[in-house]
Amino acid sequence: MGRLTIQLEAEKEYLVRMRRDFHQHPELSLKEVRTAKVIEEELEKFGISHCRVGATGVLGVLKGNGKGTGVVALRADIDALPLAETNESGYCSLTEGVMHACGHDAHTACLLGAAKVLADYRDSFGGEVRFIFQPAEEIGKGAFDFIEAGILKGADRVFGLHLAPDLPMGTIGVTPGLNNAAVDHFRIEVEGKSTHVSTPQLGADALYAASQIVVALQGLVSRRTSPVEPVIVGVGKFSAGTTYNAVPGSACMEGTTRTISEEMRMQVRQWIDEAAEKTALLSGATARVAWTGITPALINDSQVSAEVKTVAEELGEKVRVITDRPISLGGDNFAEFQRVVPGCYAYLGTANPKVKNSLNSLHNGNFDLDEDALPLGAGLYAEYALWWLKTGAALLKSK
Ligand code: NI
Repeated sequence: MGRLTIQLEAEKEYLVRMRRDFHQHPELSLKEVRTAKVIEEELEKFGISHCRVGATGVLGVLKGNGKGTGVVALRADIDALPLAETNESGYCSLTEGVMHACGHDAHTACLLGAAKVLADYRDSFGGEVRFIFQPAEEIGKGAFDFIEAGILKGADRVFGLHLAPDLPMGTIGVTPGLNNAAVDHFRIEVEGKSTHVSTPQLGADALYAASQIVVALQGLVSRRTSPVEPVIVGVGKFSAGTTYNAVPGSACMEGTTRTISEEMRMQVRQWIDEAAEKTALLSGATARVAWTGITPALINDSQVSAEVKTVAEELGEKVRVITDRPISLGGDNFAEFQRVVPGCYAYLGTANPKVKNSLNSLHNGNFDLDEDALPLGAGLYAEYALWWLKTGAALLKSK
């Protein structure tokens, strides 16, 4: 077990306290005002310089006093979800309708823990650690602001982690290649012509046209995409009409696509545009599709994954590293960072049958975790950064 991990085991009380503090004060995407302030206060205590990125993002920069020139970036997302907590723990959300149900409270605490111990060790390494506390992951924002601000300039590696209630506590998933799908959002507006229900020939039924579009979109997945390449087209919101006896003149729907390659991502967009426009025409209506890209697919660099795996295996005797966690069609815009710098996203097991609610899935009002995973998460952040600055960066430069 590395020295930093041993120290972090001793810091468990700090990690749990911070995690529960964030958990009790969850804040929605782009509204992480208190969270950002607490992060800054902690970085200040550790003597780590920091600045804001956007309104609620925080960047900490720790320069080592020893030899070496590497730069490693560590990322944690910090936002919560618009979801009511149904747990009955002593540290439940104090904000009605908002909850850290995706574990970003734990990510933030782990990265602060790593910052704390790395700051103590700053004489033993050279180069630089950049701590990225990213807001708004849940709405596909935040990451790009850091990239645009030049935060990754000169960085050799980027590393992040996410809790995984599908893995037992003590297990860490470090899977090279594809981990998460690309995510897009679409909104389809259908324009028809309103009329009395008794005279359909005088109007264009937008509700009927929109219903046909929903069906046509599902047909794309079963009839046009390969059954061995996962694609999802989901419509989650649909509205039309104002009264029972009028033909609706407009309709609107919103949905999301999940794809695993950039080619299929663009292809599916094109198919949906065509299906919506042409299907609407059959009913004498028109359709317009507006797209918002949420995140590209999350693909772990094979070299960085191998490095993280080696470091994770050294975290302790009870740690088990797996490299074949099944892909998820949920997205995470950590992927944006990996497009710029070779990176790896690890999954930290938090399930324990003896810990209440820790087997529940993410984005669930009953989600909780085995907090014994916190020193491991913090340890992985810290040990990987230290390994990179002491060993990895030199190997890269000697190549
Ligand atoms: Ni999340």
